Amino acid sequence: MIKIAITKGRIEKDVCKLLKDAGFDTKPIENKNRELKIKTKDDIEMIFVRSSDILNFINQGVVDLGVVGKDTLDESNFTNYDELLDLKTGRCYFALAGLPELKNNNFSNKKKIATKYPKTATKYFNMKNEDVEIINMGGSVELAPIVGISDAIVDIVETGDTLKANGLVILDKISDVSTRLIVNKDSKVNKNDEISKLVQKLNKQINLREKR
Ligand code: PRP
Repeated sequence: MIKIAITKGRIEKDVCKLLKDAGFDTKPIENKNRELKIKTKDDIEMIFVRSSDILNFINQGVVDLGVVGKDTLDESNFTNYDELLDLKTGRCYFALAGLPELKNNNFSNKKKIATKYPKTATKYFNMKNEDVEIINMGGSVELAPIVGISDAIVDIVETGDTLKANGLVILDKISDVSTRLIVNKDSKVNKNDEISKLVQKLNKQINLREKR
């Protein structure tokens, strides 16, 4: 049996569709109510968790595989995993954004950057050789420049609607984000056959989708 931890919400829906198209039994996922652990006819057990907990489950060997956004991987300090596949769903990107007047780099003193992604933001500004103050937020990051607690934000952008609705513009694109399939390093060895078969099927379906 292969155990998979899947990020609840948008990622869960996209991955369910991908699994179905690849020929896996997804009925138990479609029919589930609020259960957090289900089994399918393909001898797969799935648990549904928050993105920030996936790497902890992988690290502890509670699951073999994880389905999680690259944004979460970039922020994590866990290393007991390998990336197996880019599922090419959940596509968005990390961006530096702020009020339009900042377009000409009109920052006063040391920049204050609000973000849910401190590691990504720090890496970006280190690369630019800029010393900034990172302000950690749990969500609704777009508010920070509006209420004046930061000059700009580092956040993920999908449609751009949230930025637009709050009068912010993209100042720089940082990096692409998409959903990834990751594996616990021990499971990769111990369950190599089962995992390889699953990866092959998914990969075939991803390539078919990309050709359309
Ligand atoms: C994410 C992200 C942006 C928004 C981007 O927030 O942090 O706020 O989605 O999507 P868009 O470009 O399509 O508008 P999320 O929905 O996770 O809510 P949060 O801000 O409360 O974390």
